[in-house]
Amino acid sequence: MPITTCVFDAYGTLFDVNAAAAQAAQEPAHAALAAIWPAIARDWRLKQLQYTWLRAVAGQHCDFWQVTQDGLDWAMEASGLADDATRARLLELYWELAAYAEVPAMLATLKERGLATAILSNGSPDMLDGAVASARIGNVLDAVLSVQSVGVFKPHDTVYDLVGQHFGCARSDVLFVSSNGWDAAGAAGYGFKTVWVNRAGEPMDRLYATPTHVMSDLTKIPELV
Ligand code: LAC
Repeated sequence: MPITTCVFDAYGTLFDVNAAAAQAAQEPAHAALAAIWPAIARDWRLKQLQYTWLRAVAGQHCDFWQVTQDGLDWAMEASGLADDATRARLLELYWELAAYAEVPAMLATLKERGLATAILSNGSPDMLDGAVASARIGNVLDAVLSVQSVGVFKPHDTVYDLVGQHFGCARSDVLFVSSNGWDAAGAAGYGFKTVWVNRAGEPMDRLYATPTHVMSDLTKIPELV
């Protein structure tokens, strides 16, 4: 079956989750970040994701904004940084994360070829609206699908169900793209064709399914469809 629908994870895949800490570290008011921002960014992301998985397993869903704040609080405490202004600035920047450079042209090419395009994300609708507007890619996306409507985080099947419910397509019609190895694996197990975007050259996650393709960035996605 040919691919009709290309669906993208948001954070880390289209939007650079390290951009908030990297940018704040360059601002004089947040100079304390200069030496520690990579650790803050790493711990922030790791804790944010861990909290989504744990909340999904425990049936304790909350808004993605909550786990984003909780993860940052853990990361700042772990680095010994207690600064309300820096915390506020990092959270503000999370609403306008930079998209990776190749994203606008890649999405435009998919649209030119007649494919449906969408985001499927743990992010809340307002967070995703902010990021899409900031990156100016709303005109090359047909849908922005959030877990908020199902009340559980990825990789729960009911999240991946949102694609078929929205587009009326079969699982095998979908190419799902994520930089999160566990998300690409979860979507592969669900029955989507998948791409793991492995920018950092990490080892493959040992899970119950493996991604169909592995790429180092998003540039060649249109070649798959
Ligand atoms: C998302 C997270 C997992 O956008 O990156 O769903």
